Amino acid sequence: MKSILIRALTKTDLPAVSDLIHASFGAALRPFMTYTQHGIGAFLSVHVQYPGSDPGRYLLVAVDEAKQQDVVGFAEFRIIGGNVGFLSYVCITESARGRGIARAFLESFVEDRPELDQLQLDVFQDNAPAVSLYRKLGFTPTSTVAWVSRSMPAPVGAARIRTLPTALANLSTYGFCEMEVMNETSVTRIGLVGQTVLRCFSAQAFDDDALLSSLRRHFPLVETALVILPTEHIAGISSVHQVVKLSDRMKLSL
Ligand SMILES: CC(C)(COP(=O)(O)OP(=O)(O)OC[C@H]1O[C@@H](n2cnc3c(N)ncnc32)[C@H](O)[C@@H]1OP(=O)(O)O)[C@@H](O)C(=O)NCCC(=O)NCCS
Repeated sequence: MKSILIRALTKTDLPAVSDLIHASFGAALRPFMTYTQHGIGAFLSVHVQYPGSDPGRYLLVAVDEAKQQDVVGFAEFRIIGGNVGFLSYVCITESARGRGIARAFLESFVEDRPELDQLQLDVFQDNAPAVSLYRKLGFTPTSTVAWVSRSMPAPVGAARIRTLPTALANLSTYGFCEMEVMNETSVTRIGLVGQTVLRCFSAQAFDDDALLSSLRRHFPLVETALVILPTEHIAGISSVHQVVKLSDRMKLSL
């Protein structure tokens, strides 16, 4: 750990950080994750250029001072309410793993913010290295959510989408976006991750064949819908679906 420095992400780190994030998650998971889409570098660059635009988001890198400042790790933390911090991402280059760099990210973030009284994170249950890291640091699981997918139904009708041009611009620049789908009585928030995955934010939207069919007119390449739900809600889904991953929310009291 002697030659490792943890510092804020800068513009010049972005290509290495984009590659690192991409390489850190398996091929089966990448289509479902916003941070593994092609435009993550552009997305993070907005935060680097305008740090005041999202003051609760902290983007950090670990660089190896013995190797021309090579980026060997990336971590993103957020403040999600008063004194609660949240670790959104941590990834270390394969060749630098097992040297205590992930542990150092967590410890230095907490050390720099004595006002925090809790740190939370989400971890896939089958991610043994990460689960081991968090348990060793004293994190304990508090609840479980499931990442659930289904096939999109055939296209019928055409959804009315508020701010469609903005959504399309974000999709093209970042590789993901959010939008609002309107009907006579309600507005439903929907996301797109890449060209093939539609992200629902409720079981109701995920189960709504009419809603999903009407979105296919706009996004014919979208094949799969995804929702992230507390495990106890899965039994209530009537459409044919499958659990992709189980993820634990963990917390550490400080
Ligand atoms: C999980 C990950 C971040 C760990 O980073 P790291 O820098 O290698 O971890 P550290 O060296 O700080 O290890 C700290 C502890 O984590 C655990 N750990 C790390 N790698 C492990 C492995 N391959 N198997 C089992 N436990 C492991 C150990 O408990 C270790 O403590 P020890 O050194 O006393 O044995 C890294 O493997 C990684 O980038 N994985 C891909 C991305 C990812 O899954 N990120 C987490 C979810 S966002």
